[in-house]
Amino acid sequence: MELAAARTRARAAIALLLALAVASAFLCGAAQARHHHAKHTKRNSARAPGPAGASRHGGRPVSPPAPPPSSAPGAPAPAPGSGAAAVYDVVKDFGAVGDGVADDTDAIKTAWDVACQDDGDGVVLAAAGYSFLVHTTTFTGPCQGSVTIQLDGTIVAPSDPDKWPANNKRNWLVFYQTHGVALRGAGLIDGKGQKWWELPCKAHKGQGGSSGHGGSCDSPVALRFFNSNNVTVQGLKVQNSPEFHFRFDGCRGVQVRGLSISSPAQSPNTDGIHVENTSDVLIADTAVSNGDDCVSIGAGAMNLHIENVTCGPGGHGISIGSLGKQGTRACVANVTVRNAVIRQSDNGVRIKTWQGGSGSVSAVAFENVRMDAVRNPIIIDQYYCLSKSCDNATTAVFVSGVSYAGIRGTYDARSPPIHFGCSDAVPCTNITLADVELLPASSGDTVGDPFCWNVYGSAATPTVPPVSCLNDGVPRNFADGSSSLKCY
Ligand SMILES: *[C@@H]1O[C@H](CO)[C@@H](O)[C@H](O)[C@H]1NC(C)=O
Ligand SMILES: *[C@@H]1O[C@H](CO)[C@@H](O)[C@H](O)[C@H]1NC(C)=O
Ligand SMILES: *[C@@H]1O[C@H](CO)[C@@H](O)[C@H](O)[C@H]1NC(C)=O
Ligand SMILES: *[C@@H]1O[C@H](CO)[C@@H](O)[C@H](O)[C@H]1NC(C)=O
Ligand SMILES: *[C@@H]1O[C@H](CO)[C@@H](O)[C@H](O)[C@H]1NC(C)=O
Ligand SMILES: *[C@@H]1O[C@H](CO)[C@@H](O)[C@H](O)[C@H]1NC(C)=O
Repeated sequence: MELAAARTRARAAIALLLALAVASAFLCGAAQARHHHAKHTKRNSARAPGPAGASRHGGRPVSPPAPPPSSAPGAPAPAPGSGAAAVYDVVKDFGAVGDGVADDTDAIKTAWDVACQDDGDGVVLAAAGYSFLVHTTTFTGPCQGSVTIQLDGTIVAPSDPDKWPANNKRNWLVFYQTHGVALRGAGLIDGKGQKWWELPCKAHKGQGGSSGHGGSCDSPVALRFFNSNNVTVQGLKVQNSPEFHFRFDGCRGVQVRGLSISSPAQSPNTDGIHVENTSDVLIADTAVSNGDDCVSIGAGAMNLHIENVTCGPGGHGISIGSLGKQGTRACVANVTVRNAVIRQSDNGVRIKTWQGGSGSVSAVAFENVRMDAVRNPIIIDQYYCLSKSCDNATTAVFVSGVSYAGIRGTYDARSPPIHFGCSDAVPCTNITLADVELLPASSGDTVGDPFCWNVYGSAATPTVPPVSCLNDGVPRNFADGSSSLKCY
């Protein structure tokens, strides 16, 4: 880490000199490139050295000076070959075939392992024009330096569930302890989920199938980042995951930007981005169209900022929960969703908890969300239950401090546009609304009355439809209770 910082400082200083004197720029650049070239020559000598290796680095000494390193989120990766980063090309250096048929798992895994040993900036390049068939794989860190996977080609999963190891059907591509990793490019990651969705054990829409969470029904998450800090995912298209497209779990510092995620509206459990036990997350400029939650936020998620995200058509909207299943404790705090568009989805912005849990959801802001024919645009459901018989319990995850501001558009009039179903035992408190305007999508439908159960809060401006069912103030004998119920 300190070494990396030193390198960064050194490079910044170099860049400054470059700006002042072109001659010294050339010398420094050449020295950098020679350094990396030497490393490559050594490494590649054990593999297939050849013209590819030479041409790969040949351009470097005369390439323009590297821009000063930027810590700005979302700064574009240095183009492979143009900066100081060493490039590990999975085709040219590691023998990947890239025809979509040959198994390229080992080539890509080896490229990762070698790049991960590089104490500088390593770029694993999966170039455009190739399709890499990759079986379930774990990319493990921590790495010596920082690694970027530049994916401009396509990565595809095996399409037949039978091709997966019997004991390892829950993840496809896993990043474990990969601190500082960046996965970016203009490429495609295709989970080939079709045959998984068709498994008889899956819940199918309109058929009331079994839960879809049964052990026999394990399906892989396409991309799982596990215990990894400072992770960036940018620019890619990810489609047809057998299950969740992304899952971030046990991470600190996640930047997701410019993704396009898609799978059919009928595909079960294909959440776009799932976050749990993870803090400091930015999800920006991303479009999700799928069969389940657009973004789902689980227990232990904190400090999430979601901006410029488009959900639908199809799917279940942006969801906090479900939380508190089987009496578990769940804490979610400080979530902002800003400038979102949600189209033809079952829900807009939702908080859902089971009866009988504990913990809290607090400091949640939904700001400027446009709804287009959404079934439940604004919903808190503390009676979430997959069967018909879930008993009311005496505890619940406490929901408090949720604001809805600038929520406009249309809803599918089969259910009320605003639904606050809070627990009997634990009310929702400090729920605020401002600039909410929701009209039926079909002009013939009458405006549905908001539903409230045991909810406290207020509307700062008149809303459409008017919300007259919120209780004022704080519940009696609860002012003290609330702070002890909150996680933080
Ligand atoms: C993330 O990176 C920043 C800057 O490189 C560093 O200061 C910070 O400690 C890292 N955070 C974590 C959780 O590793
Ligand atoms: C949450 O993640 C941290 C690592 O960031 C891990 O140590 C901890 O065990 C995780 N907790 C749960 C409940 O998964
Ligand atoms: C809330 O989360 C944002 C990041 O989304 C962070 O910048 C901010 O500091 C957090 N606020 C608190 C009070 O922790
Ligand atoms: C959201 O989009 C607006 C308009 O394009 C842009 O100015 C803003 O920076 C974006 N937000 C984020 C967090 O990228
Ligand atoms: C639980 O409570 C809600 C709200 O009071 C009520 O509508 C529902 O019927 C109750 N369910 C059971 C199983 O008692
Ligand atoms: C109510 O919630 C808002 C966030 O929506 C928060 O800023 C405020 O402090 C809360 N008020 C109380 C009394 O807890």
